[in-house]
Amino acid sequence: MIEQFSNDVDAGLSHAQKQLPSKYFYDKTGDALFVKIMALPEYYLTRAEMEIFTMQTSAMISALSLNKNKYFELIELGAGDGSKTKKLLKRLSEQGYQYDYLPIDISENALEQLEQSLTNELPEVSVKTQQGDYFDILENLKVSHHPKVVLFLGSNIGNMLDDEASLFLNNLAETLNVGDKLLLGVDLIKSEEEILPAYNDSNGITREFNLNLLTRINRELGGDFDITKFDHYPHYKQQEGIAKSYLKSLLDQQVTINYIGKSYKFKAGELIHTEISRKYDDHLLQHIIKGSGFSVQNKLVDQQTLFADYILSL
Ligand code: AVJ
Repeated sequence: MIEQFSNDVDAGLSHAQKQLPSKYFYDKTGDALFVKIMALPEYYLTRAEMEIFTMQTSAMISALSLNKNKYFELIELGAGDGSKTKKLLKRLSEQGYQYDYLPIDISENALEQLEQSLTNELPEVSVKTQQGDYFDILENLKVSHHPKVVLFLGSNIGNMLDDEASLFLNNLAETLNVGDKLLLGVDLIKSEEEILPAYNDSNGITREFNLNLLTRINRELGGDFDITKFDHYPHYKQQEGIAKSYLKSLLDQQVTINYIGKSYKFKAGELIHTEISRKYDDHLLQHIIKGSGFSVQNKLVDQQTLFADYILSL
């Protein structure tokens, strides 16, 4: 774990264009900051998808073309707090569908909290949490041969480059069977005025979220980043359709990371690329699913057309 983190940090900071993987945002502080981000007035993504799950639950269920008499597995990748999914679970149970809910998450803590809240709020739902890496678990679930519905929500796929997203969907398709479904939540391409504030909120929470990566390196790898000497630098152009976050060095400086046993130089204004958040349209969606075997069955959007949940079928 620490070995991997250290290798990734060293590789990223040794690049001509410095970069750090966004997956390292999510330590305890980062998880808490992301919860705050989801409630920000500027961060419309979570509310828009919540609206789809609340107002279009029936349309979603019919688009999944499930059979009430046939047991299926509802698998969620990166379940988090499951607040959107609960809307779907509630309706499925009310309507007498037979299924188990299998949330997968890398965080044992997140899964325990989710299981607890489901026991309280939806005791009728059968939950089997699975801790670990998506593909290890999907590999194990492959043996079941029950019909499967996979949820991958929140535009989490947007953190992947298009080639990575294609590979991911190809690998996912390999673990599924004909007729299985993927419910894929993605943020839609729109103007800079609408998207940039979601990654540059006026409360500075996203700034803290981004800078926390350096604090984590300091704590876990013995770094000496002075976070007052870096700033949050977000970027988005509609033409490109990708929100990008960087950390900008405010002056010429050198940072030492003890665990790695190396120092890294930063020029004034130099950027460390920390995240991409890809935005999609139908064309881009078709591009990333090409060759995977998935085809679009349906697309549900919120009233303001900010966000889409695509229902894909194999
Ligand atoms: C959780 C990856 C969907 O990219 O919008 C929020 C993470 N980063 N603010 C996103 C994030 C900055 C978020 N995802």
